[in-house]
Amino acid sequence: MIPFFKPHYDKSMAAEIDKVLQSGWLTTGPQTKKFEQQITEYCGNRKTICVNAATNGLEIMLRWFGIGPGDEVIIPAYTYCATANVVVHCGATLVIVDVSDDFNISIEEIEKHVTPHTKAIIPVDFSGLPCDYDAVNDLVRRKEIRSQFTASTEEQKMLGRILVLADAAHSVGAVYKNKRTGSLTDVSVFSFHAAKNLTTGEGGAICLNLPEPFDNEKVYKALCIKVLHGQSKDALSKTKEGSWRYDVNEAGYKCNMTDLQAVIGIIELEKYESDTLPARKQIFEKYDRAFGEFDWAELPVSKDSDRISSFHIYPLRIRGISEDQRDNIIQRITEDGVGVNVHFMPIPMLSFYKEQGHDIGSTPRAYDNYSREITLPVYVDLSEDDQSTVIQVVTSSVERIIG
Ligand SMILES: Cc1ncc(COP(=O)(O)O)c(C=O)c1O
Repeated sequence: MIPFFKPHYDKSMAAEIDKVLQSGWLTTGPQTKKFEQQITEYCGNRKTICVNAATNGLEIMLRWFGIGPGDEVIIPAYTYCATANVVVHCGATLVIVDVSDDFNISIEEIEKHVTPHTKAIIPVDFSGLPCDYDAVNDLVRRKEIRSQFTASTEEQKMLGRILVLADAAHSVGAVYKNKRTGSLTDVSVFSFHAAKNLTTGEGGAICLNLPEPFDNEKVYKALCIKVLHGQSKDALSKTKEGSWRYDVNEAGYKCNMTDLQAVIGIIELEKYESDTLPARKQIFEKYDRAFGEFDWAELPVSKDSDRISSFHIYPLRIRGISEDQRDNIIQRITEDGVGVNVHFMPIPMLSFYKEQGHDIGSTPRAYDNYSREITLPVYVDLSEDDQSTVIQVVTSSVERIIG
């Protein structure tokens, strides 16, 4: 069986993890700070704080901006449930909009759904392909949209417009107009989950890139407190002699990154441009060349004049098939020993969201993308032979079903 996903094991990691284990400091400390600094340098944003998951990073930022009941947050229908769940956690109203042909949020659909209650937009860089950030950033700055924004917290007053909070869970290292994700909008959040391009087992990073008059350093310090119970000092500072006394000024959260996670991230980042991205790109190119031969194959966009993907997942679409036919193709592929997946079940198709009144009929493009989509394996240790097997099995399974 060729698995859908396999984490890469790098022997050098064991020695580095061992050093941290022996250092006497396992939780947030020097490794986390170093990793944050390296992410900032890599992405070109202003400041970064690492957390224990992208989900919590997104939620913390919605809460930091003061989003709650009565506020609306726009997200694309085509995303993982995390993007929607965090809005629900905050008690805000979820506004789910349709996507474009490239799976990413449609700018026209955002425009149609902006109201005076809209406080944030969460574009998702699906599969690692950045959204059209110039278009999103221009939209929230438009005079008529700014003028209807009603600020109800200090942060909202300072920004004076809708917050663009990018769900960049898939897109570490992706490029939009010569700039890396993380630096493209107000705030971006990466995921370092085990199946992501760059992993810390579980983990995430909040890349701050807030415009003036924000002091990103100050926001970073406030977030360090927020991710650790609202405690005025972190555990490392408390260990300093005579420094035990602390205070809590807000009921914070517990979603800090540990040094054990960070050291894995540091090693992953070191080889990311030299090894990881080229290996993933090679697989995309091989799939593109092979499936490009067939009229039934609709290839994913991984590069265009403005964008280069991080090659996170390969979402192949089959032209003209139904959802049932797609499911049958997947059944065949699996029987022939190749692990594939579907990314994603659009949010309005999930029971919880359906029960809240969301209807997949309102986002026909998301449904069309989903109903014809099969995600193929992409990972560093997928050998050339295995890639050829994937191509052969997918091709024969599709052709058997569509005739
Ligand atoms: C688009 C998207 N957003 C957010 C997340 C959540 O990431 P994490 O597991 O790090 O919380 C995921 C995870 O798969 C995702 O695919």
